Parts: sequence; C-alpha cells; structure tokens
Amino acid sequence: MWNKLTLQNIIREKMGDYSLIVASNRQPFSHIMKAGKMVCQREPGGLVTALHPVMQAAQQGTWIAAGTSEYDRKSVDAQHKVMIPPENPSYALRRIFLSKEERDGYYYGYCNEGLWPLSHVAYTRPTFLSSDWQTYEKVNRKFADAILEEIGNRKAFVWIQDFHLVLVAKYLREAGASNIITSIFWHIPWPNPEIFRICPQKKEILEGFLAYDLVGFQIRHHFDNFLACVDQELESRIDREKTSVIYQSRETLIRSFPISVDFEAISNQASSTDGKIRADRIKDELELGDKKLLVGVDRIDYTKGIPEKLRALDHFLGKYPVYKEKFIFFQLGQISRLRIPRYKQLNDEINALVEEINWKHSQGSWAPIVFKRSYMPYQDILALYRIADGCLVSSLHDGMNLVAKEFVAARSDLDGTLILSQFTGTARELTNALLVNPYDPDAFADLILQVFEMSQEEKAKRMQKMREVVAQQNIYRWAGKVLSQLLKFEFQEA
Ligand code: F6P
Repeated sequence: MWNKLTLQNIIREKMGDYSLIVASNRQPFSHIMKAGKMVCQREPGGLVTALHPVMQAAQQGTWIAAGTSEYDRKSVDAQHKVMIPPENPSYALRRIFLSKEERDGYYYGYCNEGLWPLSHVAYTRPTFLSSDWQTYEKVNRKFADAILEEIGNRKAFVWIQDFHLVLVAKYLREAGASNIITSIFWHIPWPNPEIFRICPQKKEILEGFLAYDLVGFQIRHHFDNFLACVDQELESRIDREKTSVIYQSRETLIRSFPISVDFEAISNQASSTDGKIRADRIKDELELGDKKLLVGVDRIDYTKGIPEKLRALDHFLGKYPVYKEKFIFFQLGQISRLRIPRYKQLNDEINALVEEINWKHSQGSWAPIVFKRSYMPYQDILALYRIADGCLVSSLHDGMNLVAKEFVAARSDLDGTLILSQFTGTARELTNALLVNPYDPDAFADLILQVFEMSQEEKAKRMQKMREVVAQQNIYRWAGKVLSQLLKFEFQEA
C-alpha cells in the first residue's frame, strides 16, 4: 500500500534535480489574529486536505497561493514566503497578494460566477463579463510570473490546481520557460459540450489546458466530457489510444486520478488520546447525552445540497416523529464567497430553514438542528466524525467530495454510517455507502431511518469495505500516479 514513505522514495529517486512547485488560489494556511496573538491556521476545503500531506511528504517544495489578510502579509519574508506548518515546518508557502479589484474580477467574478456554476449541474446560471475575464488573465499572469521567479534557472515540475489558474502554463511557455514539466488538476466536474459551449472564452480556456503536459480530472466521465468539448470546439487531433490531444504540434495527456485523503494519518488521529479528549469535549458542548448524532461538514455552497439535507430531516421527523428528542443533527458550515449574491441568498435560505424546522419539531429544550458557522480546527472535525452515528453528504454535484473519505478514514471503530449523494465523484468508489438522490426528500428520509436502525454487523461490514477502498486509494497513491505519468516511470502498486 502506498504511504508517505513510498511517495518520498519516488520523489527522491525519480524527480532528480526537478523542484516541485504547486500553485492554487486557496492557500493551505492563513495567519489571523486571535486574542491579540498572531496564529497560523489550516484552511478548510478538499484541495488543502489532499495537497498538504503531499507537500509535507515531498519536503522540498514550494506552494504558491493567494494570501488574503494583512496578517498573511505581515508573516512572510522579503520573498513573500513562510515555512509551514508552524509545528513542523516542511515546505514553503509563497503568497501572492491581489488587489480588491483583482479579487473581485478574478475570484468572485470569472471563477465563482462564471466557471464554478458552468461546471456544476446545480441550476445556478453562470455570468461571464469580459472585464472579469481580463482580470482572470491578469491574475493568471501574476501567478506565472511568481512561478518563473521561484524557479529561476532550475528545472521544475509545476503542478497547477483547479479552475482558478488554467492559463498559467500558457504564460510560462510564452515566457520561454524550458526546463519545466507542467500539469493541471481540475478538482471540480467538467461539463458536457452542450453546457460548455455557452462560455464566451471557451476557445481560450481549452487552449489554456492544451499548454500543459498533463491534465487530470477526478473521474473518467469528466475527462470524456472534456475530450468531447475539445472535439467540438478546436481543430485538434485526439489520440484515443493514448488519451491525449495534439494541438498546434504539442501533445497533452488527459487522465483521470480520483483524489483522496491521508487515510493513515486521519485514522490514527481520530483514534488517538487527543482525538478522544476532543470528542468528549464536543459531546459535552452539544449536550449529547444518550442522543444519536448526525453530522454534516460543508462549505456553504449551493452545490453542496444543504437546503436539500435540511428538508430531508424535516421530512424524516414528519414521517418518523418517534425520533424526536432522540438525535441531534450538527452541521458545520464554512462561510464562503459571501460577496456573491447567490451565496448571500443561500445563507438566508439556510437560516430560514433551520429556524422553521427547529420551531416546527422542537420539544422542550430539544431542537433537531445545530448549525455552526464558526471555524473548527481540523482535529476537532476528525473527532466529530468519530462520534457521529451518521455523516450526511448531500451534494447536488461534486467533483469528488473528501468529507466522505475523511469520515470513513476516521472510523477505525467500524461504526457510523455514511449517506452519500449519488452525484459526487466519491460515490463511484464508496459503493457501500447509503447512496442518496438529494432531490428526493422521501428516499433521503428513509435512508436517515436506516442510519438509526441498521444492525451493528451490517454497519461494520459496510464500513470495513469502504475503509479498504480509501486505505488503498490514498492520497500518496494519487500523487504517485500523477508523478508516474509525468516522469514517465512505470506505476507500481506498493
Ligand atoms: O475544490 C474546489 C475548490 O474551489 C477548491 O479549489 C477550493 O480550495 C475549495 O473548493 C474552497 O473554495 P474557496 O477557496 O473558493 O472557498
């Protein structure tokens, strides 16, 4: 089985004098002021969950990302760098600072009002402004410039993450960078040609992709969609044997690599003494007593199906009122992209739903839903998974969804049941979860009932099977697969 050491050995043996540069919009750690003291805290989201352990294993890399606060600025050196994580510094985070106008046009505008709704089937209409596109180009150039400065004359493997930075490889090539191998991993779904064709910059985006040596998608279906879009929009040659695209005499390999988590580290932390202490504290804070616990952990995004999950709980309590006072549903909702009207509207909708459902079903001091929006340390989230009877993942569309894999990794006790949306990439791998269509509140309610009524034996059997999958397909194997494609060595199961 692949682990941190296997990946380290591969990096040592195969990467030779290539340095590793990862770039993403979201930084892995941010600096904030807490009780008058500057602290460095881990950022939420699947991208950080996946890439942070890889960077820790690589030990020699630099992660370039956008810093956001004045404390982020104060904590970097003259090269805009800080070593992280603070308790065990193992790689450099180089921050890029964007102006308000840049963040508006690039992050809120083109990325999250354009590309994000375009890529997810969640019925939110995308908006594409040419001014936002120009800012997107400008910020992508800024990232490319920082990468060029970082590499200097060295050889480098440049690994770009996600939809924020598609154009970076094109700018690196235009600047004449020669000693580089480039790859982009697209963390979210890729739309079919019917949907993609509405994007006014579709040609530029596809050309941006085809400046990379390797393009990675989460699942085969997204990669098929991508090839269908290339076929429809560009004069290129698709080699179906090699699954590559030849465009203007250069070849780009297209692959799917389902992303994952650090199974072993999560499993160990969740079952450690520290994890137990955290779990007991959380139980006290929730006044759980002998009640059952259902949990949800999501960024507050319309693709995550949070209102659908709340409606399913409402439905469940209406259909099975005997469960009143018998459980709590704890939802951690990390606030995100709030400047965008659709996200504000979603937050209001969630507030109203929580209020209405709690009012409707409350009895005495009991109310079914506890909705927490404040920051929760990563170790606390793992402890939360460990004490939950059920974890509810209800995405309307999701590239992968690492909450589901984290939940499974945290359950070495083989207890706990996962309800998982059919519309996540993860559902292709975790077939022993209770798979749900979040648009069907009645079926969702019946699966919640199953969480409470399933035999211990059945739960353990399902969890064991899911753990085998996540343990095997872990994040080190994922990184090893990407590297083997790029550095052209034969991938071997460890
Ligand atoms: O996984 C998709 C993604 O957009 C990542 O790129 C990002 O880190 C995460 O979701 C959180 O999104 P944001 O950084 O916009 O809050």
